[in-house]
Amino acid sequence: MNGMILIGFMGAGKTTIGKKLAQATGLDHVDFDLLIVDEIDMSIQEYFDRYGEESFRKKETLVLERSLKSNRIISTGGGIVLKERNRQLLKQMPTVIYLKTDADELIFRLKNDKDTIRPLIVSKSPEEIKEVYLPRIPFYEASATIIIETTGKHPDEISREILAKVGE
Ligand code: S3P
Repeated sequence: MNGMILIGFMGAGKTTIGKKLAQATGLDHVDFDLLIVDEIDMSIQEYFDRYGEESFRKKETLVLERSLKSNRIISTGGGIVLKERNRQLLKQMPTVIYLKTDADELIFRLKNDKDTIRPLIVSKSPEEIKEVYLPRIPFYEASATIIIETTGKHPDEISREILAKVGE
């Protein structure tokens, strides 16, 4: 079966669902944020502080370019759709899955995720987080070949739904 690439906002479950899909399909799983952290040898927060968002986005593009032909389950970072170049690259991938989630649920999940520091939202109010999220939605939707509504759903259910859609 072909690989899949998961897109969606922070807290959408891209990593959790990516691992589940890998388990179910036997394909390898790769997480772009982890690949980048390996390469930059520091946390994403620290990298943003030192070099800024634009430099991080360049790293993201490099990682995406390298992954184009790989047959893996890929969990992206939430900002992958921001650059036009990345959106063009996503168009070359056969299966791009947008994990779509209501803003309020995302904000709830992000507030409860104490393990990951996300520089773009760390000091933002719920309203400000919505201001980051809402303008991205058209980009996620336009980049996706499959849109999966995840609001109120358990990861197992989401993963089953995806596998049914891609025909596994
Ligand atoms: C970002 C999302 C993060 C990470 C970085 C920027 C974004 O990944 O790439 O903090 O701009 O949405 P997750 O979506 O895995 O949290």
